[in-house]
Amino acid sequence: VSEAAVAPLLHEGVRIGEGRLRAAGIESSRLDAELLMASVLGVGRERMVLDRLEPVGLEAWERFQELVARRVAHEPVAYILGRREFRRITLAVDRRVLIPRPETELLVEVGLELPSGAAVVDVGTGSGAVALALKSEREDLVVSGTDVSADAVAVARFNAGALGLDVQFVVGDLLAGLKCDAVLANLPYVPDGESLPADVAEYEPRVALFAGADGLGVIRRLVRQLDGVSVVALEHGLSQGDAVSQLLAAGGFRFVERLRDLAGHERVAVGRR
Ligand SMILES: C[S@@+](CC[C@H](N)C(=O)[O-])C[C@H]1O[C@@H](n2cnc3c(N)ncnc32)[C@H](O)[C@@H]1O
Repeated sequence: VSEAAVAPLLHEGVRIGEGRLRAAGIESSRLDAELLMASVLGVGRERMVLDRLEPVGLEAWERFQELVARRVAHEPVAYILGRREFRRITLAVDRRVLIPRPETELLVEVGLELPSGAAVVDVGTGSGAVALALKSEREDLVVSGTDVSADAVAVARFNAGALGLDVQFVVGDLLAGLKCDAVLANLPYVPDGESLPADVAEYEPRVALFAGADGLGVIRRLVRQLDGVSVVALEHGLSQGDAVSQLLAAGGFRFVERLRDLAGHERVAVGRR
């Protein structure tokens, strides 16, 4: 009898899935197997332990194996599940948008310090992550998001509706003509031609990743458009902290602060006039 023909107990099923993911070189094999199984069963991940001796129904077992096969092909878990947590909100995500990353929460933290009623634009909003997380925690701010990708703006608008948050999203280049007090931006910053893990390279939108020979092509253009903006926070790649700080200083931002992610890497430069 093949493994696939008979539905196993929950802990056996998760272990089989974990083994397939590990064999495919997926580092987070245990976590991913649990997340996929929990999603198939429509329960929280804690049930993987609490119900470990329960049988998995045949239909759920087949569905689980389909999801494992997608992950074996390196499709990111967030796309398979169709959602990603970001700070206190859950966003719908699919291949039209970059999957929000934990380090991007630093941009929201900068936004949280803005004075009451400030106008903020999340430039290159993707799923709407930064704009929507900020609005969910600071209702007084006037928050907008822009993206050059109409597909991304469609996802961001869907998320705003689902979360009941009053954020305007605009399709356009960089600030798209919007006036504001503060700009928060996680724009593309990977140098053209740089090789990325299969999960990223084969699934996430190229327009969300690559930005010219040194990766700073889009950020450089944005910094030139910040007249009248008092505060700007820019996410950047691991080795771009000096270059982005210099761009901000040259753009007239007298005070430049550099923020680190939880791993201790500089990931965001904040400029203040
Ligand atoms: C790295 S992704 C970040 C998405 C989102 N801010 C996040 O952190 O999850 C960069 C985003 O910038 C958008 N983008 C690229 N070039 C742009 C431009 N010139 N103007 C506006 N958005 C742009 C891409 O479409 C993509 O959604």
